[in-house]
Order: sequence, then C-alpha cells, then structure tokens
Amino acid sequence: MFNIEKIREDFPILKREVHGKPLVYFDNGATSQTPQVVIDAIVDYYSNYNANIHRGVHTLSQEATDKYEEARIKVQKHFNAKNSYEIILTAGTTHSINIVASGYASILKEGDEVLVSALEHHSNIVPWQMLCEKVGAVLKVIPMDNDGALKMDAFHELLNSNTKLVFCNHVSNALGTINPIKEIIDAAHKVGAKVLIDGAQACPHIKPDVQELDVDYYVASAHKMCGPTGVGLLYGKEELLNELPPYQGGGEMIETVTFEKTTYAGLPHKFEAGTPNICGGIAFGVAIDYMNSIGFDAIAKQENELLEYGTQELEKIEGLKIYGTSHKTSVISFNIEGVHPYDVGTILDKLGIAVRTGHHCAQPIMDFFCIPGTIRASFAFYNTKEEIDQLVGAVKKAQMMLV
Ligand code: ALA
Repeated sequence: MFNIEKIREDFPILKREVHGKPLVYFDNGATSQTPQVVIDAIVDYYSNYNANIHRGVHTLSQEATDKYEEARIKVQKHFNAKNSYEIILTAGTTHSINIVASGYASILKEGDEVLVSALEHHSNIVPWQMLCEKVGAVLKVIPMDNDGALKMDAFHELLNSNTKLVFCNHVSNALGTINPIKEIIDAAHKVGAKVLIDGAQACPHIKPDVQELDVDYYVASAHKMCGPTGVGLLYGKEELLNELPPYQGGGEMIETVTFEKTTYAGLPHKFEAGTPNICGGIAFGVAIDYMNSIGFDAIAKQENELLEYGTQELEKIEGLKIYGTSHKTSVISFNIEGVHPYDVGTILDKLGIAVRTGHHCAQPIMDFFCIPGTIRASFAFYNTKEEIDQLVGAVKKAQMMLV
C-alpha cells in the first residue's frame, strides 16, 4: 500500500524550509534524498563498529567485514548478478566507467571502433575518448532525434565487425529518455562487441536484471537510489572482469607481493584497492532494502503520475518548451522562451524549489538542441502533485519577472 504521507515521514530533509518556504526537492536526478533508515545505518556504523575490513581478527573488523559483504550480496540480488564477486563496489558510476575504460587500453587495438550514444553524460564520453586517443581506436556516435530518442536504424548501420565496445545510458540524465538497451545489447553481441550500460539515472526508477539483459557491464551510484554519495557498483560478467587488468594498485587487490613480482587477488578484490567506503557500502545495502520495501512497481506508478501531471500543467504555460518527449522517466527538462535557465533556477530557489539548471554534464545534447542548457525538474516517488503545482506557479512568476 503506497502511503505518500508515511513515505515523506521517512525523509527528515523534506521537513526543512529554504528561504522561508517549504522545500520542494525536484533535483533527484542530481542526487536523491536519504531516508532515516539509511541515516541510522551510517550513525550505527560510526557509533558501534567502525573498523577496517578484510584485515582484522578483532570483533569490530569482523562485524564491519560481515556487514560490508552482506551489502555486496544485497547489491548482487537487487541486480540479479549470478555471483557476488561480479559486483565491484566502487566510488560511484564515474569510477566504475573509468575502471572499464582504462582496462580496455590493453585490449583494444588501433582501428577498433567504439560506439557511444548521443545522449551520454560526460562521464560516459570522456573516459572513452581518452581510451580511443591512447590506442588509436575510433569513437562513433549513435545519433538522436528531436524527441530525444536514439536513432536505432542508424545504430544498426554503425555496427560492424570492427565494433568492439558500445556505451549507452539506460536513462538519459538530461532528458529522462529510456533507451532500448536490450535491443542495443543483443545487436552489439551479434557483431561480437561488448556493452557497458550506465544505469545511474535508471536505478532510482527501474530494477535492472543484468542476467536477463545479458549486459556485459552495468554501472550505477548509490546516491541516486536513496543511498550515500561516494559509493556505487560495477557489475561485470566474471570472464570479462577476469580479463580486465586492475585499475589501481595497492592493498587488498593483491595475492602476493615481492619486489620482483606481484600477483593479483581474484574478484572482486582485484578492483578494490585501498580501504573502501565501508560505511557507504553498508548504507547502500540498506538503501536498496528501503527502495525494495516501497517496491519498484509502486515507485513507477507514482513517478509516472507525477510526470504526466507535471507535463500537462507545464505545457499550459505559453513560451515553455519541453526537451525530450519520448518514452522517459520522471524528468522534465524545459526552457522558457527568451530567458536563461540559470535565472529561472535562481528564482525557483528563492521560492524554495530545487531544480538543476545548465547543461547537466551533457553538452552534446544541449548543442543538438542549440541551447545553453535547460531547467530540469526530476521527480522521485516521495514528491507530490501539490509540489508540482508550486513549481508551475513559481515558473509563471519567474516568467513574469524575467520576460
Ligand atoms: N549526473 C547528475 C545529474 O544529472 C549529477 O544531475
């Protein structure tokens, strides 16, 4: 039973005011808010069993190790990975992508082709550009259309026997577009290419099944899913992770070290050099439990209603244009004719409403639409239609002041 009042009670921050107005938090695409159970888990860790993991025989270290490894299993189950060691706990999506991109420097060859979608966040463009520069591979772009959807015919035409890697987000951060990743994965596999899916913006809304998708690598961040910042995951198929060289050298990622030669640990530790974000990892597991206790069907239902209502109400404002109109998650990216998005965002903030303005780390998308940026309202399951009414009223006010 989805009880919005009860759910909002779980998030202490939703009670605060900004500039004397009740907070309306519509910047969930940047980071989600944190429920009390996750905050409690963080306090519990530092209050009761703060210790380094995988290292100590003492009780605190063992307790912390057990909880951290339990969290890995929660992540494994949530994403339906076959094995827990296929889940690498990282510092977040960007870190996860860089682990894979840097590893492919020793696998790719000059002239190999890599495809990246036109809808990517900079974090899923720049590491691949760096890789291509290093090895002399060719970066090609899957184009998008005016609705913010990928041109799938063009994608299929780009694929060929030289294509070695395909990178695509599951959901666009700037527009909310849900990409047809299963079609992308299956087609890429037919030419022997591997696929990395950036799930950072999908995981707050959708529960991905990595085995059903047959995806090679799937990456995401805890902080978009009601968890803390500084932790995320890299899922990779066992045989592929075994082929990738380690990203960082250090403690934990070794089997034996001598001055002559070092041998590396097996999965997942090969990619987890140094002391990890122990508390963050444990809290990530708690956040996953929390989101599953709400249920992803209920989350989708609430967010779809918010998306539909918000779109309908914002579209009534003359001079307001929405970017990204294809099948999408609860994101509305828009502009008001004749006004810079930053100015609208500043006025909305004064009225207690948090949105993101700018290029959203997706400059190629803004270039495609020939705009400097957008105002992005991104809704979560704890948002309400009443809050959307406040947004609409505030946008009208901003338009009156600025146009
Ligand atoms: N990638 C995050 C966003 O879209 C920060 O806002």
